[in-house]
Order: sequence, then structure tokens, then C-alpha cells
Amino acid sequence: MAAAHDTTTAPEVVLLMGPPGAGKGTQASLLAEERGLTKLSTGDMLRDHVRRGTPLGERAQAIMESGELVPDDVIVGMVRATMQAAPAVRFLLDGFPRTPAQAASLDALLDELGARITAAVALEVDDDELVQRLVQRAHEEGRSDDNEDTVRNRMEVYRRQTQPLLDYYAGHGALKRVDGLGDVDTVTGRIREVLP
Ligand code: AP5
Repeated sequence: MAAAHDTTTAPEVVLLMGPPGAGKGTQASLLAEERGLTKLSTGDMLRDHVRRGTPLGERAQAIMESGELVPDDVIVGMVRATMQAAPAVRFLLDGFPRTPAQAASLDALLDELGARITAAVALEVDDDELVQRLVQRAHEEGRSDDNEDTVRNRMEVYRRQTQPLLDYYAGHGALKRVDGLGDVDTVTGRIREVLP
């Protein structure tokens, strides 16, 4: 009798991309659980370092509060260590990669691990809605980078440094553009439809 295919260890790497407030973190949590993937959020990892007051956190805090990007070597080192230590290459990446150098490092790491990107999902949300969501979160949670100046810079940094990556993934046939407007469940359903 043929052995059943073990889907729980088959490599799967889904990227969730999009501007600040697009819903990457929200959707990553829902879909990671549903698909048996480990959510790897570089923003959450950095905030954890800041909370614990590690040297990395001390270095990252001011950069995050300005809305700029933490240096590529710091981010890539963090992601590499986590992915290499995992029992299987099954990840949902939230907010990584964000620069061409990070994308190249991810490709090299996945090559080493014998995996490749399953899909790069880009959540599309207009600026007015993004600002509204982040202002609302500022009231509810008080995240230190959700103030008006920093939000404006985060959006600008996204446009300048991260948006060009969408063309890179389109060129590799991995890009899936998804309308990020509407309620959370509706958006989850749209993402489900584009994932293989
Ligand atoms: P990060 O934490 O990744 O922040 P971000 O990209 O600015 O994204 P957000 O967390 O604000 O938004 P999101 O798209 O995840 O949406 P969410 O689901 O939270 O990064 C923070 C900083 O860390 C960066 O600025 C940088 O300094 C540094 N950093 C992180 N990664 C890095 C990297 N790779 N390289 C270098 N530096 C890095 O939703 C937002 C709000 O909207 C929530 O309140 C949510 O409840 C709500 N919401 C979600 N979906 C919906 C919906 N469908 N309808 C209505 N409201 C919704």
C-alpha cells in the first residue's frame, strides 16, 4: 500500500505583503493556523526585543519609532536563525522581505533549505482606509509608531523601498494581488482563493 503523503512537513512559504495597516498581521495569524504554518512577523519579533530591552531591541527602537527600516543584516540574521532552527520549512512571513537585499537573502536561504516561495500575497488598501485603521489602533492600543508623522513616513518608506518588490515577485510568477478592503473574513476568503 502506498504511504500517505505527509502534508504537514511539505515546504510551504507564503509571503504577506502590503503597506502599513493593510491587514498583514491580522490575516497572517488566521491563515497560519488554518494552513499549519508558523507565522513569522519581523515587526512582532522586533517589538519583542524592544519589550525585553535586548541590545537588538535598543538598536531597533528609535528606528521603528521614526518609521524607517531596521538594517537588513539585523533582520536577515533574525529570520535566518528562526527558519534554520525550525523542524520544517512551513512559514507565513508577515512584513518580510521589505527590501531587495532582504528578498535576495530569503531566496538564498530557501535554496539552502530546499524550499521556494509558494505565493507572495499583496494586500491592496487605499491610503484613506490605511490611515483610518492606524489612527483607530492608536486610540485602542497606543502602538508607539502609530502617530501621524510616523504613519506618514512608514507609508512613504513602503512605497520607496518595499513596493518595488511586487514587480520582483510578479516576474517570478509568485505575486497574488488581493483586495484588502472589506471585513476581515471576506479578505481571508479572497486570500484562500489565490493560494495553491
Ligand atoms: P510592522 O509591525 O510589520 O508594521 P507595518 O508593516 O507598518 O504593518 P502594521 O502592523 O501596521 O499593519 P499590518 O499590515 O500588519 O495590519 P494589521 O493586521 O496590524 O513593522 C513595524 C516596524 O518594524 C517597521 O516600520 C520597521 O521599522 C520595522 N520592521 C519590521 N519588519 C521589518 C523588515 N522586514 N525590515 C526592516 N524593518 C522592519 O492591521 C492594522 C489595523 O487594522 C489593526 O488595528 C487591525 O485590527 C485593523 N484591520 C485589519 N484588517 C482589517 C479589515 N479588513 N478591516 C478593518 N480593519 C482591519
